[in-house]
Amino acid sequence: DPHASPSAAAAAPAAAAVPELFGWEFATDPYPAYAWLREHAPVRWTELPSGVGAWLVTRYADARETLADARLSKNPAHHAGESRAKGRTGIPGERGADLMTHLLNIDPPDHTRLRRLVSTAFTPRRVAAFAPRVQELTDRFVDGFAAAGEADLIHDFAFPLPIYAICDLLGVPAEDQDDFRDWAGMMIRHGGGPRGGVARSVKRMRAYLVELIHRKRGDLGDDLISGLIRASDHGEHLTENEAAAMAFILLFAGFETTVNLIGNGVHTLLRHPAQRAALQDALARGDTALLETGVEELLRYDGPVELATWRYATEETVVGGQRIGAGDPVLVVLAAADRDPARFDAPDTVDLARRDNPHLGYGHGIHYCLGAPLARLEARIALATLLTRLPDLRMAVDPEELRWRGGLIMRGLRTLPVAFTPRAPQGE
Ligand code: HEM
Repeated sequence: DPHASPSAAAAAPAAAAVPELFGWEFATDPYPAYAWLREHAPVRWTELPSGVGAWLVTRYADARETLADARLSKNPAHHAGESRAKGRTGIPGERGADLMTHLLNIDPPDHTRLRRLVSTAFTPRRVAAFAPRVQELTDRFVDGFAAAGEADLIHDFAFPLPIYAICDLLGVPAEDQDDFRDWAGMMIRHGGGPRGGVARSVKRMRAYLVELIHRKRGDLGDDLISGLIRASDHGEHLTENEAAAMAFILLFAGFETTVNLIGNGVHTLLRHPAQRAALQDALARGDTALLETGVEELLRYDGPVELATWRYATEETVVGGQRIGAGDPVLVVLAAADRDPARFDAPDTVDLARRDNPHLGYGHGIHYCLGAPLARLEARIALATLLTRLPDLRMAVDPEELRWRGGLIMRGLRTLPVAFTPRAPQGE
């Protein structure tokens, strides 16, 4: 590897002992490999399937510190292997589509300015006011399969819900939302795979957003895109390109993550019947406390974001006792940190009532997930609605048959076939 640094060679333990990363078994259950890394090589130079090398950080304490370390830049220009890695934020096709100026690719002071501007529009209050609409969408998708007695919870539920929700929130007109669903489907199916169709989808989406922003400028409403256009801070506004990149990152960061939070979450509940029963009992009593701690626990136990997005050392630095060269990429493995026994009691046990749960599923520091309030809202409504309306929901295949996407940044199921006693759609 032309990028291997001397410090990298020293850090790599004997090859025979290293569990296989990024293979088939790993995609199904990466946690044993992460336990090995935490124990034996907590900051380890690793060649990724793409051929690019990066440091994997797997211990909780190191992960938390690394996420908040200002010497680690989000700007891919700092990557020593820059020509090969440009635009590697995990977002397929973004480079060609010129969407580089979004939050996950920039550092202060630009990041501070853009994040402050978007925060004046994407407020917790706006999200809270959106709850009835999320409930309506959730019921509509459950209505779509309730009478059938079976469904693929990814295709029929977890996939469409977040994309239509975020389109609504942004203010994408109803007649255009099916296009977004198709573009998003392209990106999720081929993320990490063939790039041609993905790049085309991203280009179309961007062209559409630029056009929409242009149109809304002349006719502001109370949607989030209008909010982004209106947003100002000390006389500063988002440029049209920044607003388009912002709308795009909101769509992109908020889409597959939420699909996987619902998918992985239901999967975990179906495989832990006692926990699921306790949650169902609590919901039947109208008690939502367990739902709230439960969604956090599902995020910790098997969250949607396996690795935080890319960071690059701007100077030589030390992480967890390991020297990191200037220009080296660093990947924080959130999924490994959130199972660290040094921080969590019984980390491999699902405990929906877990109180002491400062998980890193939404990241940490200045890039902490901007959409966390929306993600929590969608997950709570989706899980509560499924368990309440389809109380005998069960998996329709042997868990061994389930297939995971095996992407690098995200962790999620391809399909989740379920069965249940057929119910009449609501309102009939
Ligand atoms: C950032 C996770 C949903 C928008 C992040 C980061 C994580 C994360 C780990 C930090 C990445 C890093 O530091 O490298 C999640 C999870 C979600 C979710 C687990 C769902 C369960 C959403 C939603 C939205 C959203 C619904 C928006 C609608 C963003 C944005 C950032 C971000 C804009 C970048 C913030 C910044 O750089 O300042 N998210 N996210 N996310 N997320 Fe989320």
